[in-house]
Amino acid sequence: MLADVQPAPPDPILGLTEAYRADTRPGKLNLGVGIYRDDHGRTPVLDAVRQAERVIVDTQTTKDYLPIDGEPGYHRAVRDLLFGAERDAALAGRARVCASPGGSGGLRIVAEMIHFAFPDTRLWVPTPTWPNHPAIFAAANLPTQTYRYFDPKRNGLDFDAMLDDLKQVPDGDTVLLHGCCHNPTGVDPSTDQWLALADVLANRPILPLIDLAYLGFGTGLEADAAGVYAILDACPEAVVVMSFSKNFSLYRERVGAIVHVAESDTVATDVLSRIKQTVRRNYSNPPGHGAEVVRTILSTPALRTQWLGELDAMRSRINTTRSALTAGLDQRGVSLSADGNGFIGRQRGMFTLTGLTKDQVHAIRQHHAIYAVDSGRINVAGITPDKLDAVCDAIADAVGAA
Ligand code: LMR
Repeated sequence: MLADVQPAPPDPILGLTEAYRADTRPGKLNLGVGIYRDDHGRTPVLDAVRQAERVIVDTQTTKDYLPIDGEPGYHRAVRDLLFGAERDAALAGRARVCASPGGSGGLRIVAEMIHFAFPDTRLWVPTPTWPNHPAIFAAANLPTQTYRYFDPKRNGLDFDAMLDDLKQVPDGDTVLLHGCCHNPTGVDPSTDQWLALADVLANRPILPLIDLAYLGFGTGLEADAAGVYAILDACPEAVVVMSFSKNFSLYRERVGAIVHVAESDTVATDVLSRIKQTVRRNYSNPPGHGAEVVRTILSTPALRTQWLGELDAMRSRINTTRSALTAGLDQRGVSLSADGNGFIGRQRGMFTLTGLTKDQVHAIRQHHAIYAVDSGRINVAGITPDKLDAVCDAIADAVGAA
């Protein structure tokens, strides 16, 4: 039977990593997948993580299954990180957390749960969005629609269009928002724009679903949560799906969380029961190690301080690289937008949508062994100081400036 199965096309992001691994050229560079690399091109195990793992190895007494929604200490740590103490006191009674295998696993569970509860609901995603979003939602039978988001002429946010489109979303639908460090553009609404968006969504039967995979990679933990806070403060109900792959550098441990804030304690309990049912049908109960690392770090003051320092260092390297990339392109007379290259420094998080065409991306791959996503997205966090000139030269070559 299975001999007739047609092969799947390569994944636009992880498929690129497979091609990169098979590339034997020296000096190759992968700016495709969103993984933080330090100045030496390594994706480090954070010191806070290593120390937490030592504590876990020394003290863990069982490998028994976790509860379907994960461990209560993890729920508290996640709420504390996301809400902060004051908001937690206000929201905890109607908030529930469910551990998830990364952000992707959380999105899939939420999508299935929403489709089960509301078979007619559609999910509105920005244009562009992470290529895996539509795939995950389609697999959960949740149909997607798009709203305008990015203005390619200015490499910035098309806020008026976004607001207009969100005003047209019919009652009963769900709206996906990137909480910060939008993937793939790096373009986020300002705090005032978030407040205006929250105003549009508040008091209408529309569910905001916030994908929060890069908290702390933009401007800082508090500032990066401004959008989430605007929504939570204005809307009676919202779902936030968090990933700790990037900010804890725990990629392969697959650790994330679904945070549902409901209009009441009863609704929160009922929805959690459906989330748990969906988890049980998918992977039964969550992986434990990554969540235990996150819990240990967040609940141990010294480790939390250590982690915050390491998070600051990652963010700072990314933002330094943004400036260096801008300067390197300027020096070569390359302008990636009509307004110059300043947008690279204004964008936030790991990614910048360069405006490079698919053909230019392919030319860079072919001639310079530098891998970027076909959309023109590059992972700024993957550019090391020793490769900066090569990246700028390759871009200059592709756009005909060299
Ligand atoms: C990315 O966009 O590169 C990351 O979110 C990793 C992934 O799984 O695609």
